[in-house]
Amino acid sequence: MGYRETAAVKARALQEKEKIRILALETSCDETAAAVIENGRKILSNIVFSQIDLHELYGGVVPEIASRAHMEACDRVVDEALKAAGIALSEIDALAVTYGPGLVGALLTGVSCMKGLAYATKKPLVPVNHIEGHVSANFLSYPELEPPFLCLVVSGGHSHLVEVADYGVYRLLGQTTDDAAGEAFDKAARVLGLPYPGGPRIDVLAEEGNPHFLTLPKPKIEGRYDYSFSGVKTAFLNAVHQMEQRGEELPRTDLAASFRYAVCDQLTEKAEQLLLDRKEDRSFPQLAMAMAGGVSANRELRRQMAAMCKKLGVPLYMPRLDLCTDNGAMIGSAAYYQLRNGHIAELDLNAVPALRLV
Ligand code: KG4
Ligand code: ZN
Repeated sequence: MGYRETAAVKARALQEKEKIRILALETSCDETAAAVIENGRKILSNIVFSQIDLHELYGGVVPEIASRAHMEACDRVVDEALKAAGIALSEIDALAVTYGPGLVGALLTGVSCMKGLAYATKKPLVPVNHIEGHVSANFLSYPELEPPFLCLVVSGGHSHLVEVADYGVYRLLGQTTDDAAGEAFDKAARVLGLPYPGGPRIDVLAEEGNPHFLTLPKPKIEGRYDYSFSGVKTAFLNAVHQMEQRGEELPRTDLAASFRYAVCDQLTEKAEQLLLDRKEDRSFPQLAMAMAGGVSANRELRRQMAAMCKKLGVPLYMPRLDLCTDNGAMIGSAAYYQLRNGHIAELDLNAVPALRLV
């Protein structure tokens, strides 16, 4: 039997197996990350090798450098994940890899690495959508959480409100019409002279500042659950430039706090709108809200979402901080449910840089 048949037979046999261990690799951007996950919920190991110091000098991720760094780190990170989990490669039931969305060269290094491993071991390979991975970080932080739930997905490339109808079944309810929240945070940080990645640094500075120092505009958007951050970003950049032209020293903590507040306020307001509509509808008796993606680590966003959900009496799920940003564990969790649904890759699996969740 060739790889395809052997992997399919093994994947079918796994449907009956009680304990399934998946070795997952994530290389979509600037983190080379591998993890071993049991039954989609339990982290046996989670190794993240960050390339931040390689890209910091350039103020953002340089795709060529990212791909080369992944190439060098893949094998080591995979080995470390197995070692930390205390299990041998032969004990792994299936492999998983992020195949999109992300930087094409970065994705390809991970896809190629895992295809090679799949071919050599004849183990099934599960292709994982990076955004689905972010959503699945919630399953790792809350072992009791089951779909359906709503999810605010906020990362460097996405600002979505989605409905997680079932494992692997998503409905897109709202999205940004221009910049993603993380992208806006990174641009605002750059204007304040903060190094890459700016989001977490703005978050730290903002804790000391006055969120009402600057009043930034609220966008008028047609879509009931859609977002827009370009107006907030432009207003912020203009305000900073005017201060610089007047020779004023930038009150960086107040500026960071004002920007963070405006972005989080918009994110929370649309999520609240969605919950209020669903409450009124009455065909959704059990409402629950989750958060996912790098920006869900933001302290102000966590506070605003927690207060809003508490007010509405809706349970809120927020991934553990280290599971909000890119990691391999979330890919291993998503892969478990994909495997359960019978989704496995063949050896012609390719990277899909613009892969959508829905
Ligand atoms: O999900 P992620 O790690 O990668 C993508 O899939 O894009 O998200 C990275 C984004 C970056 O824009 C980063 O600045 C932002 O998440 N981010 C934050 C925080 N931590 C990460 N933004 C605001 N506050 C944070 N604490
Ligand atoms: Zn991500």
